[in-house]
Amino acid sequence: MNTLEVLQKNLAHLSRTHPKRRAAAVPAMQNLQAELGYLDDMAITKLAQITGLSTTELEELATFYSLIYRRPPGRHVVQICDSVCCNMRGADQLLESAEKYLHRPLGAITPNGALSVLPSICLGLCDKAPAALVDGEALGPLNNVSLEALLQRLQKGD
Ligand code: FES
Repeated sequence: MNTLEVLQKNLAHLSRTHPKRRAAAVPAMQNLQAELGYLDDMAITKLAQITGLSTTELEELATFYSLIYRRPPGRHVVQICDSVCCNMRGADQLLESAEKYLHRPLGAITPNGALSVLPSICLGLCDKAPAALVDGEALGPLNNVSLEALLQRLQKGD
């Protein structure tokens, strides 16, 4: 039995409006995303069947959590925090630098498929502001020089 089947079994006895269903949705999304790379419409439909939530509710959750991808990301994902602490320490300039360096808007994938840079809400790394998650690993504080070196390395596929 895989994790999603276990989840479905655990939720089966709960009413459709039980808060545990909603609470279980995000980890379920993360599990499925770990398997698929991102959550397409079919994945959202499957999660709706498992959790008992509507596809609209799941869409709301997916768009709220910046760690859930509705489109395929690059092989490497750099999420730069743009919340208050990081913005006060230059995150907005980092995001601009990333766009200029890569010659594409945030969220776009580099032509070789190697890299996506995304803005993110607070990553819980405020002590490292301006901070980022790089393929899930915490990094910070960043500056324009360290960010460009990172992007250059990841774009090459390192
Ligand atoms: S505000 Fe950027 S990690 Fe918290």
